Amino acid sequence: MTAWEELRETCLKCQACQLRQTCTQVVFGVGDPNAEVLFIGEAPGANEDLQGEPFVGRGGKLLDDMLAMIGLDRSRIYITNSVKCRPPQNRDPLPTESEACMPWLREQFKLLQPKIVVCLGRIASQRMIRTDFSVTKEHGTFVQKNGVWFMGTFHPAALLRQAQNKPAAFADFVALRDKIHEVCGHTY
Ligand code: URA
Repeated sequence: MTAWEELRETCLKCQACQLRQTCTQVVFGVGDPNAEVLFIGEAPGANEDLQGEPFVGRGGKLLDDMLAMIGLDRSRIYITNSVKCRPPQNRDPLPTESEACMPWLREQFKLLQPKIVVCLGRIASQRMIRTDFSVTKEHGTFVQKNGVWFMGTFHPAALLRQAQNKPAAFADFVALRDKIHEVCGHTY
């Protein structure tokens, strides 16, 4: 078994917080285990909870469209969430739940060793970049931490509700494309 398979199997059995009692299944993450770019969302929603894959609902379709716009698709990146189990009624994860789930993301990070991390929405951005990160004010800007570049942008589900932010979100993806070129030395 590869290290990824082992991690996935252990994660799927996680009972570290109460969310596992109300969700259907643990949503571990998908994509290329050698990806240079890691996308992190908030937590699974209803569709993800049923299908076991991140971003498979309407927001996921928008994410796929934005990836396609810069020549990317799911098979070339890795996508996961900061919390792996669906919170009831899609409420924000509690700090205790985020904390309990963090070791899984840390292990995924260690195996992947991404060069660039894109945080989708406030929850992931505040967890990964800075606790007071403002998506509205700071979206699309790259900051380097321990040799890894981080960027926070709008959550796809938020873009479905607030379409006026779509041009800014698309611009963030164009900035991502340029950053991939700069950091990874190629385009997709
Ligand atoms: N929203 C998220 O943050 N993650 C998903 O996987 C789906 C919706």
